Amino acid sequence: MGSAESLAGLRVLITAGPTREAIDPVRYISNRSSGKMGFAVARAARDAGARVTLVAGPVNRRTPKDVWRVNVESAEEMLTSVSEYVPETDIFVATAAVADFRPRQVADQKLKKNGETLTLKMVRNPDILATVAAIADGPFTVGFAAETENLARNAREKLISKNLDMIAANKVGRDEAFDKDRNALLVIWNDGEQQLPKQGKLELAHALINCVARRYRESRATRARV
Ligand code: CTP
Repeated sequence: MGSAESLAGLRVLITAGPTREAIDPVRYISNRSSGKMGFAVARAARDAGARVTLVAGPVNRRTPKDVWRVNVESAEEMLTSVSEYVPETDIFVATAAVADFRPRQVADQKLKKNGETLTLKMVRNPDILATVAAIADGPFTVGFAAETENLARNAREKLISKNLDMIAANKVGRDEAFDKDRNALLVIWNDGEQQLPKQGKLELAHALINCVARRYRESRATRARV
């Protein structure tokens, strides 16, 4: 099946971009995620005929045509928004670079530089992808893994530990950083994998969506038989 209508009639929910974790009213902790891959996946899913909802952290990007976008800041807000849409979702793709930790307390007033050092106490953020993957009869879940070494092994471990249907792994390092236009992905599922060669992020997103559509149909056919 070509990419043309491979997701026709399906509802796809995507997270993208970084999250922003407040320290005080004017400061936050975040990361360099550009949201480029997530927005490309949203376009590719739309092109494949899906109804697409994009829950985006703070990024300066134009919303793809015919995509419903919800803007959020923190990981907790992202989880709230995702939870709202999950019951109407067939396929969930988590591309967001969610901050693993957030400051334990958000100061009401701007922090003053009283000393030579500042210690921030951080607490773990919820794992949005693992939360969705734990829902019984929930959507087909696709995660992303950025690894500097042992790409296939680390990604497969993540597939299992988070109970995902599929994971797309990419190598990060000096030459393969955030915000690069071209990328490659190793797509892994329970009993198979496929290497998607280095290409532009939009073409890559189309290739990924083809892979997702194929596996989605196979998994739903199996589910229907049991
Ligand atoms: N993810 C999420 N919510 C989090 C953390 C991650 O939804 N709080 C999702 C990301 O969107 C991505 C996948 O989980 O799809 C990445 O998994 P993660 O364990 O965060 O990978 P790394 O950041 O590479 O973690 P580690 O360094 O621990 O391997």
